[in-house]
Formats: sequence, structure tokens, C-alpha cells
Amino acid sequence: MRPIALVAPFFMDNTLRYVQALAELPNVRAAIISQDPAEKLPKALRQRIAAHYRVDNCLDGHSLARAAKAISGFIGPLEGLLGVLEQLQLPVAQARDLAGIPGMSLAVARNFRDKTQMKNVLRQAGLPCARHSRIESTDDLHRFVDAVGYPIIVKPIDGLGSRGTYRIRNAAELTAAAAALAPSVSNPTQAEEFVMGRENTFETVTIRGQHVWHSGTRYLPGPLEVLENPWIQYCVLLPRETDDPEFSSFLPVNTAALSALGMVTGLSHMEWFVRPDNTPVISEVGARPPGVNIMALNAISHEIDMVRAWVKLMVNEEFDPPTRKYASGCAFFRGQGHGSKVVAIHGLDQAQAEVGHLVVDRSLPTPGQPRQPGYEGEGWAIVRHESTEVVYDALRKLVSYVRIEVG
Ligand SMILES: Nc1ncnc2c1ncn2[C@@H]1O[C@H](COP(=O)(O)OP(=O)(O)OP(=O)(O)O)[C@@H](O)[C@H]1O
Ligand SMILES: [Mg+2]
Repeated sequence: MRPIALVAPFFMDNTLRYVQALAELPNVRAAIISQDPAEKLPKALRQRIAAHYRVDNCLDGHSLARAAKAISGFIGPLEGLLGVLEQLQLPVAQARDLAGIPGMSLAVARNFRDKTQMKNVLRQAGLPCARHSRIESTDDLHRFVDAVGYPIIVKPIDGLGSRGTYRIRNAAELTAAAAALAPSVSNPTQAEEFVMGRENTFETVTIRGQHVWHSGTRYLPGPLEVLENPWIQYCVLLPRETDDPEFSSFLPVNTAALSALGMVTGLSHMEWFVRPDNTPVISEVGARPPGVNIMALNAISHEIDMVRAWVKLMVNEEFDPPTRKYASGCAFFRGQGHGSKVVAIHGLDQAQAEVGHLVVDRSLPTPGQPRQPGYEGEGWAIVRHESTEVVYDALRKLVSYVRIEVG
């Protein structure tokens, strides 16, 4: 039995799926480190957990290391310390280093989490990514624009959810951004040349440094365009074709990037652009399961439980999903109007009549629910079909018919 701990800060539904998958792996003694008390775990699940350790802050690597050492004392030296969320990647890696647990080190985790360092590594490896600079003063910002021209992108070094990501098109916007960001040595910002193109993802499973599986999605359209236009409802499409030339031709770039960054075993989520001349540009990559329902899309396209598959990959270094049988896609419904609460949902009848037979899962808001700030909006629907075109058409219909009114 292998002692493995999962950092699960709060016992939300999605987090509990990972806890359950770990607890049910037959060769594992599962431990949980959380901020929530053990009593909050469903009873049946609690009984399957060999050890639980509560910390005040799961984002603190030292606390996680103390917890990991204590757990090792109860159930034997930990052979793995896992975390799913992007924000956990650095503290979990730091705790592995401090407690001598195998897995991704802090140095490697930084390559995946620090946007400046990531692009330095990629450019040194000769891989295509935007020209960029770490900005530590207003002068740095001006020098960067002088070098690359408008437009540029500014964003947090360790951003997520596209929060704080802005496109700057001219001198007036630059002045406003410099004032708002107040960049300094202690408050650095990432600046990048603006890359024109379609935005895709590339999910890869690597085992002991070898590529074993990949799958890619298309963003319709890219997150920044969605954020800049409050009326756009965003979709993610997972095509059925496993030999789509756009994705196949990107594989060598993806493999070289993961190797340069130091990926050994894990699932990674890369975002990348295809420029109008069809050349690829890497945007960024996380060493963790993807968000925006891409886990769910892969699950229904391949007919597997992706959460269990990820846990098995991380613990046993095994991953062997069946061939993809379906295209799938997720339409995100985003509140329209002014106000802070959901008032009504329109267009469901028409959506149901035309594409309801393709919908395999959905989450709709209830009136009164607070408005969400991000591009994922208040609700979503997932569709599946053998044909990529049918899924694409269904997504288009869903985002044109369904409208969440906020007021
Ligand atoms: N250099 C760039 N050129 C063009 N668009 C960009 C560039 N960098 C970022 N973007 C746009 O901004 C979005 C957010 O940027 P990025 O992915 O780096 O931040 P993030 O906070 O990690 O976002 P998320 O968690 O949504 O992936 C990207 O998905 C893309 O649409
Ligand atoms: Mg991103």
C-alpha cells in the first residue's frame, strides 16, 4: 500500500471527486490535507481516508510540509503529495522539497507557474512564443513598447482565469495601465507582444519524461476576446478527429516544450495560438488538470472517468484511455445586462427543441444567484456527437438561444 496525500483545501463537489478517486485506488493509503475539518467529508468517504491533517492555509508550503511529515509519521513515508488547483502547484511542490517527497520540485513547478520564467525557458529552447519582458518600472513598460510596438498584453506573472490581463493599444492606454499596475521590483508585471491568431489547448500525458497521450480543444473565441466583449458567450470544442493536422503538427512543439520545462509524469494543459500563416505560438502551460470543463469533455469523448485516470496516472504512472469516439463541446452562458443577480434564463425551450438531444450535462443558474465576474459565466451545457460539425453547430445554437438576464 502506497501512502499518498492530496491537498484538498475545501470539500467542494469537484474536489471531493479527486478525494474519492484517491481513496478508491486499491494500492493506496489515502491522506487528505485540508482547511475544512474532516467532519465535513461525507461519512462514507471519511472512513476510506487513512489520515487527515488540517492546516490554516493550504497555500503555505511550510504548513503543507509540516502536515506531510506528520502524516508520514501515521501511515508511512509519503510517496506522493498531489494538488489539483493551479494556485496549489507552487506550495505543494515546495512541501515536496521540504519533506523529501517524490514528484515535481519547486524549481520545475516555477517553470510552469511564473509566466516570465516559462517564456525564458521556452525561448532558450528555440520554441515559438511571444516576445516578453518582466516589467519592474514604468520605464520598463515604455522600453518594451518601443521594442515590440502596439498592441501589447500585460498580465500578472502568476495569473489565472485571465484576471488582470489587458490588451494595450496606444499611448493613452499605456499611461493608464502604468498608473493602475504601478510596476516595481516587488510588484512585477508580465508584458508580451500581442499574438494574433486562433487559440487552442493541448492536453498531454507524460510518463517518466515520455509523451504517452494528447488531446486538444479549440477556444471559440479566445478568453481575452470574451473578457473584452461582455456579450460574447464562450465555447470550448473538443473535435472528434484524433489526426486533425493542426493538432498533430503541433505535437513536436508541445513535446519539446514540456521536456524543456522539466515535465516528468503528469497531465499538462497548454494554451497556444495558430497565427494566420498557420504557424504555432505557445501561450502558456500548466502542470495540472485543465479547467473550463476540459476534463469533462475528455471524459465524455473517450468514455472514461478522467478524474480517476488522473489520480491513477499520478500514483501508479499508468494512463491508457480508449480511442476517442465522440466530439464534444461546452457552451458557457454568461449573464447579460446590468446588475449583480441572475433574474431569468431565456431561450431554453428553443435550445431544448433543437439541440436538447445532444446535451449530456448542464448546469444552469437559479434566479437570485450572484453574477460571476469571469468569462465562464453563470452556467454551461455540454454536448456530444460523433460528428465535430454537429457539435460545433449545437454550440453555436446554444450560445445564440440561451440568454441569462442579470438585473
Ligand atoms: N501574448 C498574447 N497575445 C495575445 N493574446 C494573449 C497573450 N497573452 C494572453 N493572451 C490572451 O489572454 C488570455 C489570458 O492570458 P493567460 O492565459 O496568460 O492568463 P491566465 O490568467 O493564465 O488565464 P487563464 O487561466 O484564463 O488561462 C489568453 O487566453 C489569451 O486569450
Ligand atoms: Mg491561460
